[in-house]
Amino acid sequence: MIIAVDGPTASGKGTISKKLAAHFSLPHLDTGLLYRAVGRQVILNGGDPDNPSDALTAVSFPDELLDDPVLRNEATGSLASRASVHPAVRKALFERQRAFAEQDGGAVLDGRDIGTVIAPDADVKLFITASVEARAKRRFAEMEQRGVSITLEEITADLERRDARDTGRKDAPLVAARDAFVIDTSELGIEEAFAAALEAIETAR
Ligand code: C5P
Repeated sequence: MIIAVDGPTASGKGTISKKLAAHFSLPHLDTGLLYRAVGRQVILNGGDPDNPSDALTAVSFPDELLDDPVLRNEATGSLASRASVHPAVRKALFERQRAFAEQDGGAVLDGRDIGTVIAPDADVKLFITASVEARAKRRFAEMEQRGVSITLEEITADLERRDARDTGRKDAPLVAARDAFVIDTSELGIEEAFAAALEAIETAR
């Protein structure tokens, strides 16, 4: 069973995907992490994420980079969003994601274009979303807990910029697949959101 989970930043898609993977004993790939590694590697190379050739070179990041906590930072998320605009970068990361989706027994993948580009044949497609306010508050609480100094306004502005870039890009924009179940988590706690996801999966199977 392939479960495709898409949605904007801080919508809860990562948490829901991890819980689904544990529940169904499936491997899970957070595809955002690949783009974050590219964004980070561009900087390590002294390049510019808006430059298609610099961004493409950074696709050859070392695997250890995926474990670096700096990838979780808001700043790296923005670099990822800039680097992921380039079609050559998306193409270069396609096979890795596709191979993960195709492994025996299935997989859970989360990102922006899983249900539309990476696994349009997925057995279940979920589109997890929430209001900008709800997502900014969540991200703010997360950052506070990690001791990162950033204001709610800064987070809101960053989310809006990232949403606009991810939704507006020509190649693989963030959009719900036509056959995706849309779950709005603005008013839901983690367990409620997970229950909604399970219900959608049972309906689809
Ligand atoms: O999900 P996460 O916030 O870690 O993703 C970081 C950035 O990587 C996103 O803002 C988006 O631009 C990009 N991304 C993408 N396609 C994916 C996953 C992430 O373009 N499948």
